Amino acid sequence: MIFGATGDLAVRKLFPSLYRLFQKGKLDKFAVIGVARRPLTTEEFQNSVKDSVITALGKKEKIDEFISHFYYQSHDVADSSSYQNLKNLAQQIDDKYELEGNRIFYLAMAPEFFGPIALHLKSDGLTDVTGYKRLVIEKPFGHDLESAKVLNNQIRKAFSESEVYRIDHYLGKEMVRNIEVIRFANAIFEPLWNNRYISNIQITSSETLGVEERGRYYETSGALRDMVQNHMMQMVALLAMEPPIKLTTDEIRSEKVRVFRSLRMIKGDKINKYFVRGQYGAGLVEDQQVPEYRAEPMVDNESNTETFVAGKIMIDNFRWAGVPFYIRTGKRMTTKSTKIVVQFKDIPMNLYYQPEKLLNPNLLVIHIQPEEGITLHLNAKKAGGHLNAQEVKLSFANTGIHAMNTPEGYEKLLYDCMRGDATNFTHWDEVAYSWAFVDNISEVWEKTKAEDYPNYESGTMGPKAADELLEKDGFFWWPVNALDVDICK
Ligand code: BG6
Repeated sequence: MIFGATGDLAVRKLFPSLYRLFQKGKLDKFAVIGVARRPLTTEEFQNSVKDSVITALGKKEKIDEFISHFYYQSHDVADSSSYQNLKNLAQQIDDKYELEGNRIFYLAMAPEFFGPIALHLKSDGLTDVTGYKRLVIEKPFGHDLESAKVLNNQIRKAFSESEVYRIDHYLGKEMVRNIEVIRFANAIFEPLWNNRYISNIQITSSETLGVEERGRYYETSGALRDMVQNHMMQMVALLAMEPPIKLTTDEIRSEKVRVFRSLRMIKGDKINKYFVRGQYGAGLVEDQQVPEYRAEPMVDNESNTETFVAGKIMIDNFRWAGVPFYIRTGKRMTTKSTKIVVQFKDIPMNLYYQPEKLLNPNLLVIHIQPEEGITLHLNAKKAGGHLNAQEVKLSFANTGIHAMNTPEGYEKLLYDCMRGDATNFTHWDEVAYSWAFVDNISEVWEKTKAEDYPNYESGTMGPKAADELLEKDGFFWWPVNALDVDICK
């Protein structure tokens, strides 16, 4: 059952992803009930599913067979009789599709409805099933630790923790999933993956888009809650965790939680030494003039909301003591790109020093998007002439044969949920620890108005203070545009 079935997420992501699974033969016994307030007939709904698939994928094979599995139920989230109707419809179609009483409830709607819907699912008997029941829930999971706890308590009245699938769509990205494989399937990285050999790690997730139509939500969130609490912290955890003893959901989660427990909790006056906030001004993005954040629809013209965050995260454990994890994310930046740069320490002595050029440190770059790949930056002899060292790059790009049929994030996450694999969803403990970390920052930022907003021009890589954050430690942001992966066609 997809709650919010006429919404943007369902139309743009969920229906096309279900179709791809269907085409690949991964969905045989299934039915989807679309649930939303709007009155629609099942036929109208099926046609909208068809349109969404064709718009997203341009494909039509077996589309009529696919949409014949879709039903529609107009619904009032606060009304018990709506849930009774839903329950009856699900029971009627259960036999037809041999669903064996299994139910997945996908909440693709505004977060204020998450708790009430979960409670109704329980009180109106939809969770009394003979098969499994699972709840898939979109972000934001609360607004801070307190509200996340309230939400979690409501959900847990109806579903156990193992039945809750909290989506972080970054965990569906191919190269985010690749982090653990790169780390744990290669003898050459794991021995170096610590504070003896790594000097710092940089994670950049930049966007060119502004806040678009989401001003109302974004004003209550800002980049810290929108991107850092979830996606950025999850990438930090995957990069920093110890090797799990097995690749099971519980083992991986508990290793991630150990990272969160080791985070240096920075508070009060120290926040502004570790974290920098920014808000975009007007500027040129990809040759288009764009307005400042404060002029966007539904944004306060004196807004104090940050659209950019850069920070230094310290993990105080044996492996990572002393190694900064720098993160930065923002809207209206130069380029749309997510990259992780692992910078190794300088070699003890440079035999190849030339006055005009120092040796570059080794870098391992994980290209999350838009290109997917890995590059390893080494030094090697310049061909011919003297023993001069120059930087060379080993590249792997997920293109051509490797990228064939690469599933979309949502496709993977939906399939995982159907198979009962919750590894790439966020566990309550992870959510709670990362909220606690982020709450310390927002508490300070909410009390003190940023005086220099807007402080970065659209189309740039953020405010100057974000560069200074690294300069103070003797580092600089590796320019993401220069770190490309060579794509061989
Ligand atoms: C979402 C945020 O979680 O992630 C958006 O709410 C942001 O503000 C988006 O634009 C970025 O996702 P991606 O996959 O485009 O990097």
